[in-house]
Amino acid sequence: MSWDREIIVKSKAELALMREAGRVNALALAAVRAAVCPGINTAELDDIATGVIRKHGGIPIFKGYGSPPYPATICASVNEVLVHGIPSKRKLKAGDIISVDCGTLLDGFVGDAAFTVGVGEISPEAQRLLDVTEKALYEGIARMRAGNRTGDVSAAIQKYVESQGYHVTREYTGHGVGRQMHEGPQVPNYGTPGRGVLLRPGMTIALEPMVLVGTPRTRVLADQWAVASADGSLTAHYEHSVAVTESEPIILTLP
Ligand code: MF3
Ligand code: CO
Repeated sequence: MSWDREIIVKSKAELALMREAGRVNALALAAVRAAVCPGINTAELDDIATGVIRKHGGIPIFKGYGSPPYPATICASVNEVLVHGIPSKRKLKAGDIISVDCGTLLDGFVGDAAFTVGVGEISPEAQRLLDVTEKALYEGIARMRAGNRTGDVSAAIQKYVESQGYHVTREYTGHGVGRQMHEGPQVPNYGTPGRGVLLRPGMTIALEPMVLVGTPRTRVLADQWAVASADGSLTAHYEHSVAVTESEPIILTLP
């Protein structure tokens, strides 16, 4: 998947609106996280997210996206499903890991974020995968500074993940985010320092490391949305929408 969308620099006022959208999105994700337990199904998690977003006057932005139109508020991706798992009556069980991705439109701007969490007690290997993927996100965020390039961000994510013996996806990427869920630039989870788009204050980018244990290869399942590891190995996904500023990057998708 590759695109050539416009890069849109935001004003301070627009960044404040994006932080509000991101905040509501974070509240929805926090409610889902609190509800994850053995026995709950992912459609129930979807309802929880929808309720929080609507209560705050937001709109679930994934619903209706793409073709075939995405049918839900969240992506609920269990174990070998890397991203875009469609919520269903499937019950979670102890030992599973679930990635939850959510996007909220509020006052004209989108917040897009994701996390992965264990259901009940999980194996130490699964926990290490979650820890590495989350840390990879923060390795990327730390490079989101004016004067750096997108390749610096991408390379930091790839380098850390591969140093831990895991793989980053090649087919799905981070992306600019703003009035649209997907703006330029694309920010892959692999790359070369010094290459790519120059980061400037006011750029807003959703960084989303997608990490696989076995190989980087993926396959799309029969529902045409869910993307799983080709070898069935475990996967994880974390995402924040982040703003470049004159100084420290700002995470826009915090509660
Ligand atoms: N965070 C994902 C992305 O940026 C979520 C998209 S799910 C979709 O592409 F259903 F809306 F496509
Ligand atoms: Co995204």
